[in-house]
Parts: sequence; structure tokens; C-alpha cells
Amino acid sequence: MMFEEEINQIVRNLKPSGIRKFFDIAATRKGVVSLGVGEPDFITPWHIREAAIYAIEKGRTFYTGNKGLPALRKGICDYYRRRFGISFDPEENAIVTVGGSEAIDIVLRTLLKPGDEVILPTPAYVAYAAIIEMAEGKVVEVELKEEDRFKLTPEVLEKAVTARTKAIILNFPGNPTGGIMTHDDYAKIVPILKKHHIFAVTDEIYAELTYEGKHSSIAEFDEIRDQTIVINGFSKAYSMTGYRVGYILAHKDLISMILKIHQYTIMCATTPSQYAAIEAVNNGDNDIAEMALSFKQRRNYIVKELNRIGLKTHMPEGAFYVFPSIKVTGLSSEEFCEKLLDEENLALVPGNAFGQAGEGYVRISYAYSLDEIKIAISRLESFLKNHG
Ligand SMILES: Cc1ncc(COP(=O)(O)O)c(C=O)c1O
Repeated sequence: MMFEEEINQIVRNLKPSGIRKFFDIAATRKGVVSLGVGEPDFITPWHIREAAIYAIEKGRTFYTGNKGLPALRKGICDYYRRRFGISFDPEENAIVTVGGSEAIDIVLRTLLKPGDEVILPTPAYVAYAAIIEMAEGKVVEVELKEEDRFKLTPEVLEKAVTARTKAIILNFPGNPTGGIMTHDDYAKIVPILKKHHIFAVTDEIYAELTYEGKHSSIAEFDEIRDQTIVINGFSKAYSMTGYRVGYILAHKDLISMILKIHQYTIMCATTPSQYAAIEAVNNGDNDIAEMALSFKQRRNYIVKELNRIGLKTHMPEGAFYVFPSIKVTGLSSEEFCEKLLDEENLALVPGNAFGQAGEGYVRISYAYSLDEIKIAISRLESFLKNHG
């Protein structure tokens, strides 16, 4: 590779995403069915698209203030109060970002000093470890286990804490496992976070895809409220991935520091997208409910079918992924996915792309039509006849 010695060593050593690697191969082949990508298949609801079009039509295409449009920040804070019973102040506690992705990046860059440890419950969304490393932090993986329904337990957390622990990433409902945490589950870990003053970075991007009961946030706990940073966005709940709008809710002193990075690197989230997001957050509760119902039906179908064909699959309580065990095949998760693609033209994501704890599993996204899901099941069934 050219420039090997010259470029930043951290970037040089970063592994490319295990998801992308796989889909680059799949994209070159004909007839491939992919249940790999975590992106809702619904077209963004019309009233939201219309708001974006209207903003462009009216020439609302200039920079906004760095924190984002006041009406959007107000809408977001009203939404958190209305949906989850948690209060934030739009002026002091909120920044609109370019998706949850930017939010994760600038939060971690603000918090971390070189060598600070971040506890990362895995299997985890692929971006966290890379971003922690780019911020010169140290990733400390802890394993979420299927027998705990992929929840974080106080025992697992306590063992990972050291004097250098700065933060923990919480992602419930989680990608790739679909695990959730209830208020009672959080109540068991909150005293540990409080005692060691560990920042809780809670990525709630799948909050609206909680199928049993209501989403619970660690921000409900006043005793650690000052050290809790909420990340959320519009991509998943409203099917707005390409609009690139997310947000951060946190203590005002953290917000003012995080804003410095946002200000210099991003300026502001895309203006017409912010107008679309105002419409979504104020008038989109019914859309969320409709899409979530459809995902729940697909979840029930796919879990039943996977178990029927012989892949033991935990019933995920949130998000739009299932995480079946492939241990019966004796294949590693990468071997499984490579052979499946070769032999059956079906692309899934190997569990080890989400950390070592994901070995022995594959991730299947059910944010696809029922027709595609049915084809995928029949291809998997045929694959298991040869590898079961
Ligand atoms: C857990 C999690 N967080 C954040 C993101 C990023 O979403 P976006 O940047 O589109 O808001 C994703 C996308 O897949 C995700 O799965």
C-alpha cells in the first residue's frame, strides 16, 4: 500500500467493516438475495417527504444554527417527554447531528482522553469499536449472552470496570441481537455506573422498535442523569436513513463541549432534512406505530421459521434483526456466510463482524419484504440439508 508509513497508524490498522466486505462480494453476483442491511424497506411517509420538498421549494436551503433548527430541537425534546417521559431543554441539552453516526463520533471524541477505556457490550454495532479506537480510547469488550437474552448484567459489568473506565456504550434495543433492557434491568447497573462515575452513552436508535411493552431509557435515572448521553435519530423509526438526521441529548456542559467538534467539522445537519425531521417528530407517531407493527409480524414469522428449519433462534424483543445460532452446522460464522452465498446466493452477516462474542451466530435483518424473507428461508433450509 502506498503511504503506509505516512498515514495515521490508527486509521491504517482499522479493519474494514465485516458487513461491507461481504456485501461488496454479493453486489457483484446475479440473483443474490440479501438480508444483510439494517435499513427499513418503507418509503419515507409522504407528509415527511413533502416537508423536505416544501423546504427546498421555499429556498430553506441555507446553514442553520450549529445546534440545529430551534423548532426541531423543541420537537425532539417534546417527543422524549411524550414517548418516554424524560425531560430535556431544547436550548441547553440538544444538538442535531448528521445521523446517529456523527453523534457517536463526536460524543466519544469529546469524552475520551488517550488510553481511556470504554466498555463495549458485544456483539455490537460495528462502528463503536472503530470510533473508540479513532478517538484513541481502548475498547473493553464484555459479552452479552444468549442465556441472559442479550441483556447487560451487573456481574458482567462489574468485572470489566477499572480505574481507567471512562464510559460504557449501551445500545438497547440492540444491533445485532435485538436485546432490550427494561427499567428493572437498568436499575441493577445504575449503582455501578454511579459509583465509578462511568458515562452512559446510550444509543437509542431502535427505541421505537420495542415489541414487548415500552422502550426504557437509562436517562430515566436521575441519579446518573448528568453522566448520561442519549443518542438517537430518524433513520430507523421513520425510515429516513438517507436524510441523515440524528441528535444528542445531554447535560448542558457536555453539550457545549460536543458542540465545538460539531461546529468545526459539520457546521449543521442538512437543512431540508431538518425540516423533514420536524414534520416526522411532531406528526409521525402513527407512522412509527404502523411500521413497528409490520416489523413485529415479520419478526414473529422469521423466528418461527428459523427454529422450524433447525437454527435455534432467540426471540428478539426489539430492533429488526434476528441472531440465530449456527452452531449445529459446525461452521464458523464466516464459513457459514461464505458457503451460503456461494451455494445458495443468500447474503447474511457473520456474527463475528460484531465482535468475537458473535462467533457461532449470523445476523439476519428482517427489514425486507415478506417475499424476500420467504425466499431466504427456503434457501437456508436447502443449505442446512447439506450442512445440518
Ligand atoms: C446501533 C446503531 N446506531 C447507529 C446507527 C447509525 O444510524 P444513522 O447514522 O443512520 O442514524 C446504526 C445504523 O445501522 C445502528 O445500527
